[in-house]
Amino acid sequence: MIVREALREAEQRLAAAGIETPRVDAEWIVAHVLGTTRSGVYAHLDDEVELDGLVDRRAGREPLAYVLGEWGFRRLTLKTDKRALVPRPETEIVVERALALLGAVESPRVLDIGVGSGAIALALKDERPDARVVGVDVSHDALALARENAAALQLDVELRAGDETAAAEGWDLVVSNPPYVESLIGLQPELRHEPHVALLGEGFHERIAETAQTRALVLEVGDDQARDVERALRDAGYTDVAITLDLAGVERVVEGRRA
Ligand SMILES: C[S@@+](CC[C@H](N)C(=O)[O-])C[C@H]1O[C@@H](n2cnc3c(N)ncnc32)[C@H](O)[C@@H]1O
Repeated sequence: MIVREALREAEQRLAAAGIETPRVDAEWIVAHVLGTTRSGVYAHLDDEVELDGLVDRRAGREPLAYVLGEWGFRRLTLKTDKRALVPRPETEIVVERALALLGAVESPRVLDIGVGSGAIALALKDERPDARVVGVDVSHDALALARENAAALQLDVELRAGDETAAAEGWDLVVSNPPYVESLIGLQPELRHEPHVALLGEGFHERIAETAQTRALVLEVGDDQARDVERALRDAGYTDVAITLDLAGVERVVEGRRA
């Protein structure tokens, strides 16, 4: 099939499956197969292309990042598959705030709790090469993917099995995007393809705030959780507690410092 028809068919198929951005997703898939960018697709409209079931997978509401097998996060391209959560654009703000809090601290010791694909830990190492970054996760599948990403990107991050209790070891900075969804009911179908251990959880923020031995803490939070987490940080003795909005204007990241 030629690209022009493949795009049209894919768009129709994805629209019928309820995808909100069927044209964009069709362009991403075609671009991936052709090894070009989305806009580059339009230089190949009369070329032959074989999409090999990728459109079917997306129509089955598999996240686009899993279908493509890679996804951009900050300056990195990460391998993405069902072993770990798809890195989200809002999580880039966690990295931004973490870098701001690290400031001029030399060779800071940084812990990422729930490292998943490695997104936060690897982006921090990429953007602060002097940092000594450790990522922990309870999921061995996620750790395997994070290790593959670290190796491919040649970023020297320590990745080990562990949970939120690692926060008590003593750090310059603890970051986490912990599982914070209460239920998947009513949420978009793509989430059902992602590991439940990455999504479903409660009380992580409060536990981390209470137990962490750290000079700075940056936490991603769910919708309507920021004010409770802000209070938990203040109760735990953090100062300069602040909330940062994501691009949709939702209170998404809570941070604080402690002497
Ligand atoms: C929301 S995902 C975040 C993944 C990655 N940091 C990111 O931002 O894309 C949460 C991660 O926490 C891990 N996790 C769940 N329970 C945990 C626990 N008790 N201790 C450490 N990690 C945990 C999950 O396996 C998952 O990889």
